[in-house]
Amino acid sequence: MNSIDQIDIAGKKLLFRVDFNVPLEEGIITDDNRIKAAVPTIRYALDKGAAVILCAHLGKPKGKVVPELTLGPVAKRTGELLGVAVPLVPGVIDDQARMMAEILQPGQVVMLDNLRFNPEETGKTVEERGDFGKKLADLADIYVNDAFGVAHRENASVVDVPRYIKGECCAGFLLKRENEYLGDALADPKRPYVCVSGGAKVSSKLGILNNLLGKVDDIIIGGAMANTFLLAQGYGMGKSLVEKDLVQDALSIMEKAESMGSKLHLPVDFVYAKTHKAQSAEGVCKADSMPSDALALDIGPETIKNFVSVLSGAKTVVWNGPMGLFETTAFAKGSLDVCKAIAGLEDALTIVGGGDTDAVVHLMNLADKFSFISTGGGSFLEFLEGKELPAFTALKECMK
Ligand code: 3PG
Repeated sequence: MNSIDQIDIAGKKLLFRVDFNVPLEEGIITDDNRIKAAVPTIRYALDKGAAVILCAHLGKPKGKVVPELTLGPVAKRTGELLGVAVPLVPGVIDDQARMMAEILQPGQVVMLDNLRFNPEETGKTVEERGDFGKKLADLADIYVNDAFGVAHRENASVVDVPRYIKGECCAGFLLKRENEYLGDALADPKRPYVCVSGGAKVSSKLGILNNLLGKVDDIIIGGAMANTFLLAQGYGMGKSLVEKDLVQDALSIMEKAESMGSKLHLPVDFVYAKTHKAQSAEGVCKADSMPSDALALDIGPETIKNFVSVLSGAKTVVWNGPMGLFETTAFAKGSLDVCKAIAGLEDALTIVGGGDTDAVVHLMNLADKFSFISTGGGSFLEFLEGKELPAFTALKECMK
């Protein structure tokens, strides 16, 4: 896969797919990490004398122009970070967008408004996407994909533009780094290799667990997803969140783990309360003594000790999903201690991905202690499931 520094971009117009799907509260960006992550590639292109047309999505406007989902605030923030004006072409892709792209000069940047205002962007089939990919491709000479967060989506700006672009296609630095860390580095990991999996649902992690069985030495399971594994082992989980229909899958993972040489580590105790809205804990219980009217909201002290001890000698760690309801201080200790333990590993490759996990790392101010923080949510999960993501396939096809 070519990266932007391997092709001649001087004096060219680049259509740049970025993932600027950032959280907004009343028009204010509350986390601009995704924008910051793409800035080095954009800056590089400008310094090389290219003109940049940024395109991105925000939320799910479902093919309609939704004023609250305009990329206006994002264009403004991008301009601040780049130190250049980034005008927005409002609304759908039309003559105005074509005209602004036409007159764009080397060193200048423009941002198209939310791609998903155009219904074809998210069409499920080639027919539904129509000629939208071509319309976008016609705006530029070269296509740059730096949008790992959307690499798993078969959207027109991800998979169709590379088919129609006049010139070359390439990956931006962010996409290249994601591929290097999640692909190359994990293909031949230093051992012990530990996967830490948490979060609410087993269903969203089944693919990863199945793919990593036999590849990793240890799998630590925390968060509400652990409840389903414990239920499968016959424990009563009180009112805790469980996925009863996945008990068989949990059993099968536990059986396979043993035969495939990956050691599974589950919680042995919990911090619990009567409702998930509780602001303080009712108590701590062993995994086999969960009160019938309570729910597990964090891993307990003994579990933290076990998990930290498994992590202590790790040379490669991939972490996705918090250990409990970390947004409430009373139930954050498990996630924070696991975060600290991973961040404290010296000489280890430590990779984090997924929105909530990322939030724990930033809450702890430990981002610079990790080898790599993926910008992907769903795409991070699908990559670790061993799937070839549509964005990578499209780029490779384009480069042939
Ligand atoms: C994300 O936020 O994970 C990406 O931007 C993809 O967004 P989507 O799930 O709306 O496609």
